[in-house]
Amino acid sequence: MRQWKTDSWRNLKADHQPVYPEPEKLTEVEETLRKFPPLVFAGEVRDLKKALAEVSEGKKFLLQGGDCAESFAEFNADLIRDTFRVILQMAIILTAGVKMPVLKVGRMAGQFAKPRSSPTEAKNGVELPSYKGDIINDSEFSASKRRPDPERMLKAYSQAASTLNLLRAFSDGGYADLRHVQRWNMGFVKSDPQGKRYRHLAQQIQESLHFIEALGINSGNTPQLRQVQYFTSHEALLLPFEEAMTRVDSTSGDVYDTSAHFLWIGNRTRSLDSAHVEFCRGIQNPIGIKCGPSVDPDQLIRLLDTLNPNNVGGKITLINRFGCEEVGNYLQPLVKKVKEEGRSVVWSCDPMHGNTIKGNNGKKTRSFDQILEEVKMSLQIHSSEDSHLGGIHLEMTGQDVTECTGGLDDISENDLTHRYRTHCDPRLNANQAIELAFLIADEIKRNGHGN
Ligand code: PEP
Ligand code: CO
Repeated sequence: MRQWKTDSWRNLKADHQPVYPEPEKLTEVEETLRKFPPLVFAGEVRDLKKALAEVSEGKKFLLQGGDCAESFAEFNADLIRDTFRVILQMAIILTAGVKMPVLKVGRMAGQFAKPRSSPTEAKNGVELPSYKGDIINDSEFSASKRRPDPERMLKAYSQAASTLNLLRAFSDGGYADLRHVQRWNMGFVKSDPQGKRYRHLAQQIQESLHFIEALGINSGNTPQLRQVQYFTSHEALLLPFEEAMTRVDSTSGDVYDTSAHFLWIGNRTRSLDSAHVEFCRGIQNPIGIKCGPSVDPDQLIRLLDTLNPNNVGGKITLINRFGCEEVGNYLQPLVKKVKEEGRSVVWSCDPMHGNTIKGNNGKKTRSFDQILEEVKMSLQIHSSEDSHLGGIHLEMTGQDVTECTGGLDDISENDLTHRYRTHCDPRLNANQAIELAFLIADEIKRNGHGN
């Protein structure tokens, strides 16, 4: 195999990269980024990898979620806090359902670059580069705003650093206290007559917490009740940025991409000879691979050979995103093949990206029922293959947006225009995310997973 270097990806075809009109400016930005401190640390990445190995062994469950695309304009402490809180709340519900620890990974603090189906967008006879995420260009449809600007990488770094700073404070500094986080549930569950479906599990959670407190175990004397481990992730799409954030760890001599703990390769850039696979094969971070209908079982094994030649547990997470109509055809052969070949992977289900439709008002949307259906079917397929679904990967927010239809509030296609705020794909809102956690917890119990 070719020798790997942080820049060996440059010898291969790199799809979905911007064409920067001023290459010298790009070089300057890369030099600057190379000198910046790491955003995450090698020891944390190793902790995550160990935890993911436990997910692959069925001892933990992975919850990965956050924005489709973070934005420079919508960046403030409340938004970060609300998404963080909903992820913690979902984690509690899932923990109670599956009776195992839930590993929490945000699509946050760096999820800025987007692959697009077309490199250009035309409006009223004008053709401009597509919006590719705030780290590359601006979504406003004008020639100057759509021009890719490398300096945006510096702004993305700075926003990721501030976001991480806040997340670290929330994780350690009392905000994640169980007593605080559990305040969610009763309001949500009681506010709606339909919420009675969830009351039983919600009550069980509260009773367990009271019982623990009655034993004298509380957040004052037990740090585990007030601190959480929280990791960050994004798609490793914009390779000049990822390369510039890559460092050699001084304690182990290993190479880590320090832009996030977990990086994934998107469905459009995961071919064996891609620059993205080349870059990812040399870094020690855990790697996700998005698997859509074009993935072939034999190719997938070759991809695993390249990205994880020593079959290290926790290194690879396979994220299926087939859509509820296709998952029945595509997932089973992959699961079977991976099992036959004795590969250690985490299986996670992204029920968002295969279920995107255009609503009648032209807005992209996803239906809550179809999202749930893909998770249910994935669970069943794993059960029937004597494998297990280790996690879920969601696009969601802590805000009360109207981007996906359905759920307890029964958002209709006509409601979408009320609070449609996403910069890219439609996200579950806070209530939909929590409801989904209840339903998935239920479904996992039904499939005999969990303890
Ligand atoms: C995404 O996760 O935002 C994404 C673009 O997914 P996929 O590569 O699976 O289409
Ligand atoms: Co998306």
